This record gives sequence, C-alpha cells and structure tokens, in this order.
Amino acid sequence: MFSRVVRPAAAASRSISTTSKNNRKVAVMGAGGGIGQPLSLLMKLNPTVTELNLYDIVPYTPGVAADISHIDTPAIVKGFTGPDQLIESLKGVEVVIIPAGVPRKPGMTRDDLFNTNASIVRDLIKACAQACPKALIGIISNPVNSTVPIAAEVLSKAGVFDPKRLFGVSTLDVVRSHAFIGAAKGVDPRKVSIPVIGGHSGVTIIPLLSQCKPAVDFDQGKIDALTKRIQDAGTEVVKAKAGAGSATLSMAHAGAQFAFSLIKALNGESNVIECAYVKSDITESTYFASPLLLGKNGIERNLGIGKLNDYETQLLKEALPELKKNIKKGEEFVAKNP
Ligand code: NAD
Ligand code: LMR
Repeated sequence: MFSRVVRPAAAASRSISTTSKNNRKVAVMGAGGGIGQPLSLLMKLNPTVTELNLYDIVPYTPGVAADISHIDTPAIVKGFTGPDQLIESLKGVEVVIIPAGVPRKPGMTRDDLFNTNASIVRDLIKACAQACPKALIGIISNPVNSTVPIAAEVLSKAGVFDPKRLFGVSTLDVVRSHAFIGAAKGVDPRKVSIPVIGGHSGVTIIPLLSQCKPAVDFDQGKIDALTKRIQDAGTEVVKAKAGAGSATLSMAHAGAQFAFSLIKALNGESNVIECAYVKSDITESTYFASPLLLGKNGIERNLGIGKLNDYETQLLKEALPELKKNIKKGEEFVAKNP
C-alpha cells in the first residue's frame, strides 16, 4: 500500500530558511572538475548557502547545475560556462571558491602546474576584481604558494586588494593531520585540533604537533614520520590515483569546511578559526599560513604561530627559502604578464 511520509519539521524549516536574513551567495569557479563537482554538491547541501553560482569553461557546467539544483535545500543554483558568462557568474557573490586548473600527475611537483594555472587564476581574479571586489576569495588551485600572490598582485593592480579577504585554502593539510593523528592515537579525528602553518607544498607544510589538542605524546621518530606523511600526503594520493589526478573528494570536504567557516563569520558567529595561507607579517615570508580568527570582513586577527619547539623551528627554517621563491615567482608572473 502507498504510504506517505509527512515531514512537518522539514516543511517548517524550509519556510524559515526562505525568510532568513542571512542570504549568502557563493560561486565555485572550476565547478565541473574533480573538486568542483563534489564541492558544489556540499555547498548545495548546506542551508546557509542561499545562492550558488557554478562556473567552468566546460560546456556541461549548466548540466552540473541542473543536476545539483534538484536537491531539496534552499540554495538557488545557476550554471555558467565560458568566458562570455564569467562576469555574470560573479555578480553579487560574497564568497568565491576557486578550484579551477590542472591537477598533478605522478612525478610532478605542484610548481610544475604553474605555467598552466597561473594564467587561469590571474584571469578569474581579474573578473572578481571587476564583478565582486569585496568578496572573500579562497584559492584552491595549485601551486597555492604562488597562485595567492598572483591573485594579490592582480587585485592590487585593479586597486581593490584587501589582504583580509584573500585566502589560499590549506585546510586539507589540517584535515589530513587530524585524520593521521587520530588514527595513530586511536582517537576520533574530529576531536583532534592542530595548527598547520607555512604554505601548501612539501617542506613548506608545517604541522605543529607540539600544539596539538588534545596533547599527543609521540617519540621523535614518530613525530618525524608523521610530519613527513602530512607534508607528502598530496603526493600519496597522486601516486595512488596513478595518473587520474590528485585529491578531489577530501579536498571538496576541506574546501567546503573552509567556505562554511567564511559564511559563519559573515553571519556574525564568533570564534570562527581556520588556518589559511594569507598575506602575512608574522615571519619573513610575505605570505604565510597560520590560524586566523575570521569575522565579517574576512581576517579579524592573525593568531600567529605560538611557541615552536626546536624541531618545528628547524622545519620553519627549511620552509622559508622555498616560500620566498614561490612568492617571487607568482609576483614576477603578474609583472611580466599583467
Ligand atoms: P580537474 O582537472 O578535475 O578540474 C579542474 C576544472 O577546472 C576543470 O573542470 C576545468 O575545466 C576547469 N578550468 C580550467 N580552466 C578554467 C578556467 N579558466 N575557468 C574556469 N574553470 C576552468 O582538477 P581538480 O582535481 O579539480 O584540481 C583542481 C586544482 O586544485 C588543481 O590545480 C589541483 O592541484 C588543486 N588542488 C589543490 C588542493 C589544495 O589543498 N589547495 C588540493 C587538491 C587539488
Ligand atoms: C593536495 O595536497 O592533495 C593537493 O595540493 C594536490 C596535489 O597536487 O598534491
């Protein structure tokens, strides 16, 4: 017999959400890709997102949008494809998340992606400068250590750079640290909290195990092994996918977590903290990832890196020259290719 499921609570929550004061418009740039599609799905599942614009150069982007739009959550979803629709996709957007660009294949470094992804990020950021200059922008596209300085230079040239509003998304390094430490200690990874500072590639990824909460006790051999695994975790996935790309699903989760934190902060929630790679003066590297207190205008306060032990101080020393090189490369790219 046909039975009808009545969901009065769900129906009520729908009518509440449509009258919510917090309308949050989000754009995913590169929405047709390995990260873009699951990230867009996660954005649609979150009721705090009220409008969701999906942009990609692939012609099936409106199809991805049509598919996701059938999910019964509040966000109104629109698909945009090709350079002609780029500006329209960004109009009125408050949070822009950018996973556009090519991923690694085995044997490549993130820096090997620079030649292709630098101009992709430059052009998307030019459009942001024109269409949504006040948006909070999260860049996932690699090499993050260079694409963020590229974005900053483009925004500066357009006269709209606000360092509080531009982020390199390094959340996956934190998510992985939680997973690996949780597994090593037999604790729920959701209860683990650890800052990961520096940048987002190899030696520039610095997990601060000495600041982990709850405090974890590892011998130096295990600390070294865990640190190296966190630094090489992206490569671990690239190798395992054997030519089919890099992390997509865990990145979609991490990117969504970061975007939701930006939205929570925009909506006035207090104590929203995320690590991200931003313009910084806390070390001699002009961009640096550290824990940030987020607010309505983006970064409310850079929480800094706390006290490092000798091992972590040495990691920082090894990271700084690489970071400076990556940053210079990004800045020089925009100077030569405005
Ligand atoms: P993918 O190839 O599956 O998807 C990329 C998408 O970008 C494609 O759909 C492509 O059409 C689109 N694209 C290309 N040029 C574009 C443009 N000009 N405008 C809009 N869209 C454009 O790749 P992926 O696996 O999703 O990875 C995307 C990027 O994210 C890579 O650079 C990868 O290295 C990076 N990544 C970063 C992290 C991180 O922690 N920050 C983690 C994983 C991957
Ligand atoms: C990652 O950390 O998984 C990403 O930066 C993708 C990559 O190339 O490793």
